[in-house]
Amino acid sequence: MATKSSNSNLHRAAKVKNDEFYTRLVDIEKELKHYKDQFQGKVVYCNCDDPFESNFFKYFAGNFNALGLKQLVATSYKPSPIANTELVLQSSLLPGYEDKIVQKPSGPKGRPKITANKFVINEVSDLDGDGAFDLRDIAEQLKANKNNEWAPLELEGDFRSEESIELLEQADIVVTNPPFSLFREYVKQLVEHEKKFLIIGSDNARKYQDIFKLVQENKLWPGYSRVKEFMQPDGTVKKFGNVGWFTNLDVSKRHELLTLYKKYSPYEFPKYDNYDAIEVSKVSDIPFDYKGVMGVPITFLDKYNPEQFEILGMSDNRDPNYEYRTKLYTQDDSPQYNDFNRGTVLKIKGELKSTYTRLLIKAKK
Ligand SMILES: C[S@@+](CC[C@H](N)C(=O)[O-])C[C@H]1O[C@@H](n2cnc3c(N)ncnc32)[C@H](O)[C@@H]1O
Repeated sequence: MATKSSNSNLHRAAKVKNDEFYTRLVDIEKELKHYKDQFQGKVVYCNCDDPFESNFFKYFAGNFNALGLKQLVATSYKPSPIANTELVLQSSLLPGYEDKIVQKPSGPKGRPKITANKFVINEVSDLDGDGAFDLRDIAEQLKANKNNEWAPLELEGDFRSEESIELLEQADIVVTNPPFSLFREYVKQLVEHEKKFLIIGSDNARKYQDIFKLVQENKLWPGYSRVKEFMQPDGTVKKFGNVGWFTNLDVSKRHELLTLYKKYSPYEFPKYDNYDAIEVSKVSDIPFDYKGVMGVPITFLDKYNPEQFEILGMSDNRDPNYEYRTKLYTQDDSPQYNDFNRGTVLKIKGELKSTYTRLLIKAKK
């Protein structure tokens, strides 16, 4: 029988492993193409990104001049669980890299533990990018340029460390896929330092109270695309259905009016018993002529134009008699009951209408 401590070790291991999802270049390109004019003259910081592993680094180094970047900074994280398997990851991520592997992961002596590094790019002039270049080639070429700086960090590269915060303060825009398990803390730091950001996260985060508050205050919103596949350190692909981008950079869809075609009828849109709002179970069915509060699915956020609607709140189950709890499936598929992801207590005719979260919205005049 597993003891409590071995269980918590397993849990911790699962958690660490679940932070190791590496973003594909194609997904970065698909999202970044929408923001190109917002990077001109900016300092970009990728603070969870080993330049030898991260396609964020590859994207920004490769597009440094096209985007008109002022500077690109990337820092790696020393305790990364892939520290001793980096080369395996490289070979699986980057076809053509295999022949450059010079050291096998963790032999009897082991590879010396890599330290955390920072890579500061001020100039990209000599990338012989013929389409076949890989990350290591890029990094080596950039290192050779005396206007760029490659140096070990004194600390471990934790995004919360003093050293990383100093780099953060000098940056304009942070772009990365941060560890999912630290998402709330990660976003909090960006907001505290008033940084622009474009980051990957789980849709579940939309329901965390602190993240939702930022959504409500129009300080954070979804980006354009979904990220459905990530590379894992063992070379396998992990698929997700609930991962996308979060940003505070301008996105054009926030200025588009949602076209509404349904007329309000009390039959079709019943009122909740315990809240003065109507239930609208599909975003496309939002009635154009209802002036009061409406409960809509959280996917509304992908269509939200703050000039058209205001978000008043989100349903939850702080009712102490509430016996239902939404199951939140973590990335290793184990169910967890998460207080930040509570189901709704909105009821219609004495029946619990739904355990799905509802956003409470109202049309603006
Ligand atoms: C989800 S992976 C994504 C890696 C890379 N940004 C990408 O998109 O391919 C998150 C990365 O953050 C690193 N990491 C974990 N905890 C960290 C921390 N406290 N500070 C900085 N980086 C951290 C992990 O080692 C891992 O490389």
